[in-house]
Amino acid sequence: MAKPAKARKAGVARRKRRILVLHGPNLNLLGTREPEIYGRETLDEVNRRLELAARVAGAEIAFFQSNHEGALVEAVQGLRNRVDGAVINPAAYGHTSLALRDAFLAAPTPFVEVHLTNIFGREPERRHTVLADLALAVIAGLGAQGYPVGLRALVDRLRAG
Ligand code: DQA
Repeated sequence: MAKPAKARKAGVARRKRRILVLHGPNLNLLGTREPEIYGRETLDEVNRRLELAARVAGAEIAFFQSNHEGALVEAVQGLRNRVDGAVINPAAYGHTSLALRDAFLAAPTPFVEVHLTNIFGREPERRHTVLADLALAVIAGLGAQGYPVGLRALVDRLRAG
């Protein structure tokens, strides 16, 4: 027998949202890379923070880091129908990569763009991102804390429908 609409709705709301976290170039070096700018937390530590936030939010989480534009483009292409949303720090490709932008246009998936630093207050070439207008939100300048903040907001939005 089909479930009543209310129960179905509650089931949908409870379903674990699947989130992919994408880390762009040089973020594998977090912790040792210009720590006065990007902080001392390593990428593994950032991911542990995110795992915890995902557990609390009732979401499934997976991670992908690459220094290669094409690999990130393929990961974005693969988002469609596989995950419910993404958190991405595109790093320098966020300022330059039309290919990454096109991939999000081709595989529309709600995503939050995160930057550790406040890119809007940095050098002129870092103040613009080619993804920002496609993103649900851009979080910049909160350091590693920006990732769980973005994840929680994304999962809340997905739940709200
Ligand atoms: C960054 C900012 C980018 O300008 C830079 O190229 C990065 C990291 C950030 O998280 O603040 O690699 O995305």
